[in-house]
Amino acid sequence: MTGEYPDVVIGCFGGGSNFSGISFPFMRHNIKEGKTTRFVAAEPASCPKLTRGIFQYDFGDEAGYTPLLPMFTLGHNFAPAHIHAGGLRYHGAGTIVSQMMKDGMMEAVDIEQLDSFKAGVLFAQTEGIVPAPESSHAIAAAINEALKCKEEGTKKTILFNLSGHGLVDMASYDQYLAGDLVNYSLSNEEIANNVSQLEHLV
Ligand SMILES: Cc1ncc(COP(=O)(O)O)c(C=O)c1O
Repeated sequence: MTGEYPDVVIGCFGGGSNFSGISFPFMRHNIKEGKTTRFVAAEPASCPKLTRGIFQYDFGDEAGYTPLLPMFTLGHNFAPAHIHAGGLRYHGAGTIVSQMMKDGMMEAVDIEQLDSFKAGVLFAQTEGIVPAPESSHAIAAAINEALKCKEEGTKKTILFNLSGHGLVDMASYDQYLAGDLVNYSLSNEEIANNVSQLEHLV
């Protein structure tokens, strides 16, 4: 619509729906036409299934009722921190997008909670739209990409998906602006301990 073609496509990442929706139509051109667009999934640092999870068979739901699915996962019993982007707390990634990650067709970055809110507030101030805390992860990743371009002195077209508005998240913004939100770190031991519980599934 704008006559531009993206160099980088970014979506926040819960299970992969909005990321795939914005990325896959362009990814097709990488596969078929040799384009070199980068695809970046932005997930919360407190629920890092793509950046720190493992690729193996797991259940898609916490209770373990689904068929086993090949996916990037932190383990279906992973209990993430109560971050203010509830939609990004899912333990795993969808099967197709997991395969794309495994095949090196896309990348992932993790975003700290406070960085996502900082990006969300900046976006609201500059664009007049209050983004959902989930979407703010994509905004933070887009800002990081833009800053990288600035440092390198390069110019890129960066496309990100604004997956939702934040009008029902005002209490979270309130808490952020009052300085009451924190980052949640997750140790390697916690992740290893959780995924080790999947060993009996393979
Ligand atoms: C506004 C918004 N964006 C993104 C997501 C993430 O989900 P998915 O990765 O499946 O697109 C959610 C999930 O609830 C959401 O509410």
